Amino acid sequence: MNFGLSRVLVTGGAGFIGSHLVDTLVAEGCDVVVLDNLSSGSLSNLKHVKDKITFYKGDIQDQKILMEAAKNCEVIFHQAAMVSVTKTVDNPVDSAFINDMGTLFVLDAGRKNKVKRVVLASSSAVYGDDPLLPKHENMPLKPMSPYAVQKLTGELNARIYHDLYGLETVCLRYFNVYGPRQDPSSPYSGVISIFMTKAVSKKPPVIYGDGKQYRDFVFVKDVVKANLLAATEDDAAGQIFNIGTGKHVSINNLWDMISLFSGLKIEPEYIPSRPGDIIESVASIEQAKSALGFEPDYLFEKGLEITFKWYKDSRK
Ligand code: UD1
Repeated sequence: MNFGLSRVLVTGGAGFIGSHLVDTLVAEGCDVVVLDNLSSGSLSNLKHVKDKITFYKGDIQDQKILMEAAKNCEVIFHQAAMVSVTKTVDNPVDSAFINDMGTLFVLDAGRKNKVKRVVLASSSAVYGDDPLLPKHENMPLKPMSPYAVQKLTGELNARIYHDLYGLETVCLRYFNVYGPRQDPSSPYSGVISIFMTKAVSKKPPVIYGDGKQYRDFVFVKDVVKANLLAATEDDAAGQIFNIGTGKHVSINNLWDMISLFSGLKIEPEYIPSRPGDIIESVASIEQAKSALGFEPDYLFEKGLEITFKWYKDSRK
C-alpha cells in the first residue's frame, strides 16, 4: 500500500491503537508527529520507532502544544481519549474535558493549521443496547454512558467542522479492537487482553453470564488499515464508518480458541452477567467496504495467534 501522506499527527500515539498506527505510518515513510500525555499510553509502545518520530509529551487540552504539533500536517489521526468507559462513568465531568473539549481542540487545531483531513476514533458504544443487528451507521443511536455521549459529540462536532469550515473529517466507529499492547490490567479491559493474560499464566478466566453473548472482534492492524483508507479516500470526507469484521464470536468460543493456543483445557468460572452487558454486537461494514474499499485482512484465528504470541513473549 502506498498512501503518499507527508506529515501527519497522531494524538494518543503512545497508546494501544495509536502506536500501531504510528508503526505503519513510519513504515509508509511519513513524517510522524505524536502527541500523548502518557496517561494511559506508554513510551515502551514507541521504543522501536523513537528515533524516527517527533514526540510531544502533552495534553490535547493544551492548545499551544496542540497547535505546534499540528503545524504543517496533512492529516491528524485523533486517537487520544479517556478510553475507559468505567472511568467516564466515575468522572463524567473530567472525562468530558478530555473527550469532548479535547476533540474540539483537535478539530480546531486542524482548522487553524489548514490540515486537509482529521480522522477521529469513535466507538460502537454510540449504538448502546438497541437489539437491531447488524449495527449499521444510519440506525438510531442510544449512547448509554458518558463515554458514548462524548464519542457521539465528537462525531457531531466533526460534521460541523466539515460543513461549516470545509475541514475534511472522517469518523470511525471501532467495534471490539484487540491485539498486541492492549492493557489487560483492569477488570474492564477488553476481554481478549484479560483472557490472554489468564491463558499465559494458566489460570481460569471469569465468564459473565452463560458466555453465549458475542462481539465483533477486529484486529488492531485492520483498524490501522481503516484509518489510512479514511485519511486518503476522496469519498470518505464528512462520513462515518463502522470498523469491524462483520463477523462475530461468542465469549465461550473465544476462550476455547485461546485454550487451544495455550495447549491447556482450563474450565472457565461462570458468574452472573455484568449489569447492562450487551448480548449481541456485530457491525455492518458495507459502507466502509463501498466508500473506503475496506476489507479486514486478518482472520480471527490469525489475529488471535499473533496476539497470544505477544502476551506470551511479554510475560517472559
Ligand atoms: C465495551 C467496553 C465497555 C462498555 C461497552 C458498551 C471495552 C473494553 N469495554 O464493552 O466498557 O461498557 O463496550 O459500549 O471497551 N467478559 C467476560 N469476562 C471478562 C471480561 C469480559 O465474560 O473477564 C465478557 C463481557 O461480559 C462481555 C464480553 O466479554 O459480554 C466483552 O466484554 P468487553 O471486552 O468489556 O467489551 P464490551 O462488553 O463490548
